[in-house]
Amino acid sequence: MTSAHIPDLTPLTLGTSPLGQGTTPGSAEEAAAVETAIALLRSGHFVDTANMYADGRSEEVIGIALGELSAEEREDAAGRLITKVDRDLETGILDGDRVRRSYEESLTRLGLDRVRYLHLHDPYRTPFAEASAPGGSIEAMVALREAGATDVIGIAAGKVPVVSQYVATGAFDLLLLHNRLTLVDQSATGLMTEAKNRGMTVFNAAPFGGDLLAKGSAAGTSYAYRPVTDELRAWTARAEEVCARHGVALNAVALQFSLRSLLVDSTVVGISSPARLEEARALAAAAIPDAVWGEIEALGAAPTTVRDEWEEVL
Ligand SMILES: NC(=O)c1ccc[n+]([C@@H]2O[C@H](COP(=O)([O-])OP(=O)(O)OC[C@H]3O[C@@H](n4cnc5c(N)ncnc54)[C@H](OP(=O)(O)O)[C@@H]3O)[C@@H](O)[C@H]2O)c1
Repeated sequence: MTSAHIPDLTPLTLGTSPLGQGTTPGSAEEAAAVETAIALLRSGHFVDTANMYADGRSEEVIGIALGELSAEEREDAAGRLITKVDRDLETGILDGDRVRRSYEESLTRLGLDRVRYLHLHDPYRTPFAEASAPGGSIEAMVALREAGATDVIGIAAGKVPVVSQYVATGAFDLLLLHNRLTLVDQSATGLMTEAKNRGMTVFNAAPFGGDLLAKGSAAGTSYAYRPVTDELRAWTARAEEVCARHGVALNAVALQFSLRSLLVDSTVVGISSPARLEEARALAAAAIPDAVWGEIEALGAAPTTVRDEWEEVL
């Protein structure tokens, strides 16, 4: 599917939220993270990071990796990089000034003078009335685009009722939702449909629910960053039985559920190593018999752990 805002967008975007987590500069662990980042940047896929990921280490490691590429590779990879502006982690403030500072921090870490794609990230702690007022985050995001500091702007978060308000402004070109268009939870359907109708480019992040649908019913511990309930584990085991009958893996089905959705322009999957990248590509290419989709649907709605009415942060 082509996207008006990102004509060269890849169906798979590689997520880097834990990249470099806990590593110190110059350590062997950092070197391993840089090796992963180089593989992601050379892969030809879009790469998704954020100011706050791994306390800034995700962007720092990507910056080191960019510096190790040839000039041509670097320009190519930088053109597929997406980052996000975040609240000040000490004060929680996410106003217009913080948007500009956050973007400057990102550029310094990445060693770039601009990124083409910039999301406003998880604006849960700022009342929408503040975000949309003069001096607020939305005005600052629009100003960055108008000044040419970035090409297009997006809203990236999970809670559908919160994100709906940002989509309704018409200010944003991109939408990223996570954990809400998967085998387990489809509560993003309405908002993604609205975004598509508005001509926005839609990213669907965390097709494995962050864990459960990648590791399976026996080993998975969380869905949407919350503990897996007994009911959800049992539903997942039934989905695995369907997959086993057809000789396919649950994680391939989980990934392709998102890849085949007409609502989704790109699926953002968390990649922690070069080996995981190869696995993700294989899962994306696996042959899945048509019957699988109907048989999983026939299991009925999964008992999701997403609770947008009362979730505070996720
Ligand atoms: N608010 C936002 O903007 C937002 C929110 C959530 C996510 N995102 C973006 O979306 C990306 C993906 O989200 P996510 O990482 O939470 O969820 P995810 O992609 O659903 O799941 C990632 C998990 O799946 C595992 N995994 C991946 N491939 C696997 C394989 N082939 N076999 C077994 N396990 C596999 C990984 O395990 P290992 O660690 O063992 O590799 C990791 O724990 C993030 O990195 C971020 O870029 C954005």
